[in-house]
Amino acid sequence: MDTNRLSKTIAAALNAQMTKEAHASQIYLSYGAWADSQGFGGISNFLFRHAEEERNHMMKILEYILKRGAEVEVTAIPDPPKNPTVIKYCFNKIFAHEVDNTKAVYKIVKLSFEEEDWATWNFMQWFVKEQVEEETLAKDLLDKLKIAENEKADKNLLYSFDRDLKSTPDDASSAENVTANNP
Ligand SMILES: [Fe+2]
Ligand SMILES: [Fe+2]
Repeated sequence: MDTNRLSKTIAAALNAQMTKEAHASQIYLSYGAWADSQGFGGISNFLFRHAEEERNHMMKILEYILKRGAEVEVTAIPDPPKNPTVIKYCFNKIFAHEVDNTKAVYKIVKLSFEEEDWATWNFMQWFVKEQVEEETLAKDLLDKLKIAENEKADKNLLYSFDRDLKSTPDDASSAENVTANNP
């Protein structure tokens, strides 16, 4: 009896997404090393932590493919892009990368909807929510960086930005959890 519960197309898309999450992890890892070499220890710490998070995303998908009885294909991970030249570009690239990953997640959601594979559709909703958080986090950091890099801003702001990132929580808060008393 065939115990594989994933279609060929869905299994291929999930395997590709697994590699994409691993690629994201490599990007955070490489930018983290770059940030440290530029003297931004706090930013580097944040990026290294995030590299782990992306690896966890990869593992979630790997586990799901196995649980559904399909085959996991571990492939080569593409090289991360070249290092940014300044810290602002680093966060710009990260935001763009997260948006790109969201698009890939949406494609799988669409595919599972079309195939009426509700288990995969349901599984992917976790990623939809996670991507909202990841984009928010990247956007918030870009906003803070804009203030710190403003010409009129105190030079110490970039220093504080770096220091704060060391203890910045790994997840942005979800809009779903907001109340009028706790905006
Ligand atoms: Fe991810
Ligand atoms: Fe991400």
